[in-house]
Amino acid sequence: MIRVLVPLVVLLAACTTPVRDDSRDGTGPITFVDGRDTTAGSQVRKLVQLWNERASRREQVAFVEMPTSTDAHRAQLTARAQDLEGVADSPECYDVMAVDMVWTEPFAAAGHLEPLDSAEFGVDRMLEEAVEAAKSRDGSRLWAVPWRSDAGLLYYRKDVLEAEGLAPPTSWQELREQASTVAPRYNLHGYVGQFRRYEGLVVNTAEAVWAHGGDLERLDAPETKAGVRALADGFAEGWIPREARDYDENASLTAFQSGQALFMRNWPYAGPVLDTPGSPVKGKWGRVALPWPSALGGWNLAVSRCSANQRTAREFIKFVTSDANQRRMGELAGFGPTSQALYEEPDLVPPELRDSLLNARIRRPSPHYDELTSVMQESLHHVLEKPDSVDQSLDQLADDLAEAAEGR
Ligand code: GLC
Repeated sequence: MIRVLVPLVVLLAACTTPVRDDSRDGTGPITFVDGRDTTAGSQVRKLVQLWNERASRREQVAFVEMPTSTDAHRAQLTARAQDLEGVADSPECYDVMAVDMVWTEPFAAAGHLEPLDSAEFGVDRMLEEAVEAAKSRDGSRLWAVPWRSDAGLLYYRKDVLEAEGLAPPTSWQELREQASTVAPRYNLHGYVGQFRRYEGLVVNTAEAVWAHGGDLERLDAPETKAGVRALADGFAEGWIPREARDYDENASLTAFQSGQALFMRNWPYAGPVLDTPGSPVKGKWGRVALPWPSALGGWNLAVSRCSANQRTAREFIKFVTSDANQRRMGELAGFGPTSQALYEEPDLVPPELRDSLLNARIRRPSPHYDELTSVMQESLHHVLEKPDSVDQSLDQLADDLAEAAEGR
């Protein structure tokens, strides 16, 4: 009996606790890669500085910024990881990488990440869904540590709505009504969001679809079609400006911040940016939870397979994801924490963000999300320009996705 048990226990332990390769578990200088630091006052850069001031001279962190779009960010990390496959100790290796929750698992499955020990990072204290998205499909391996949680918010021009005696919209119909009637009187675009052909488009479409009772798992359902049509109609009617077809998070934020739009859908980081000194809308904006479910977003921190200084990499991840530094990034950058305890601090997590996060949904639950999203992006970007093609295009998309999911 014991003979059987021992190997089994060892095997189970091996599944949950990564086996450490001592030659890679060194301390020394590392690089940390995140998307371009678009936070108010470059708070990610400052956090890295804080580490560098406290760490020894041997363990300094060099910060590398990727493009803002999550798709481009991933493409660059993938290319670098592939180039370095099998290469030991390359100075080109990105030791610690910020990875989007929606592609953490497939990125890890491609062999680019080092498995981590849950207990070492105290992931039990973190939001369950965020932790789940950072694990392997069977839940046995932790690939990354949840760093920040994202949920969509509806930003609005408080000065304009107050002058009109209006409360912010509580439904899609009210949004459309205010965006198409009030905005033009103030020479403003009605509504901006992220409609470029990239992941943000799927996020914005999923939310419009949920607002109409559909979901991306049933693309050919009448409610889903109604949601997509509502967006396409918004463009056709003009209350969503044509330019927004090229907007990502930052471009929509620039439009809203420079006083061009009445409403904007964006993530929490936009709040502190709108209040920076010299911001044209400082003090003139408000925000509420989206009146419909938001897509759940967020970023995790991972250790690269190619990293030689993995001990330092893990220490740096512990530093960044500590409750103290999540609090700091909540206060200064508006980031939604992943630590559950911080949700009990109302000054840190404002009610609209808490509400939005608690109601947030997975975009399209699927082990193949990864492949499905690029098919969706292409079709949806096209369809937004052609409200008449919504029915047919979504029927087609539903078929294409069924095939993609089966790997055909
Ligand atoms: C934010 C979210 C991420 C999402 C991306 C889409 O960065 O955190 O999950 O995929 O926006 O643009």
